[in-house]
Amino acid sequence: MVGCDRDADLLAELDGPAVRGDAYRLPFPDDTFDLVVCQALLINLPDPERALREFARVADQRVAAIEPDNSAVSVASTVDAEGELARRARRRYLSGVDTDVALGADTADLFESVGLSGITTRRYDQTLVVEPPYSDRDVREVGRKASGAGLRERRETMAGTDAELDALRAEWREMGREAVRQVQAGEYRRRETVPFYVVVGSV
Ligand SMILES: C[S@@+](CC[C@H](N)C(=O)[O-])C[C@H]1O[C@@H](n2cnc3c(N)ncnc32)[C@H](O)[C@@H]1O
Repeated sequence: MVGCDRDADLLAELDGPAVRGDAYRLPFPDDTFDLVVCQALLINLPDPERALREFARVADQRVAAIEPDNSAVSVASTVDAEGELARRARRRYLSGVDTDVALGADTADLFESVGLSGITTRRYDQTLVVEPPYSDRDVREVGRKASGAGLRERRETMAGTDAELDALRAEWREMGREAVRQVQAGEYRRRETVPFYVVVGSV
């Protein structure tokens, strides 16, 4: 098994062999691997078909992709405003970003258009739960809500005027401050569900 990404820092996290490379021009000869699989990559690419054609070149049996539908994420939280604010932020993100971050089940259509056969799709829901006892990561993430850092970093990919996004961020930070208060009281609970689609095809 060989890991591949264009981000050297991410590859440094792997124990096994890893090769830095671009999904559009994989640094491997034709038919090198039984299976080429990616996760949450196609949603980030302007031309996902091009990457899939490259995967099919490098695979001699199968290609698989595990891609979310970010338009169908649901959030339930003990902070009343959080679910609705997450929905509003998501809507702005979905119309601002220039790749198909809601690809999900439609990944199968891309497999078909690059000539893969025997395509199967299976859905699984990834559920992220934050509840006591909180991990360091949970506490950090709740702190980021109160600072509005996440929305600031995504600003370029969110639709809306500066005034609209500033207003959303102000409400978001207020929601974050309530989340911090609830964490300190050991009362904060949040459940986020993201539908992922596992698509497999034969070369
Ligand atoms: C959402 S992350 C998913 C990371 C990992 N696959 C996972 O599931 O945890 C998207 C990854 O795609 C990588 N990426 C984006 N465009 C790429 C490209 N053209 N070639 C290779 N990797 C790319 C990014 O570096 C990032 O690590």
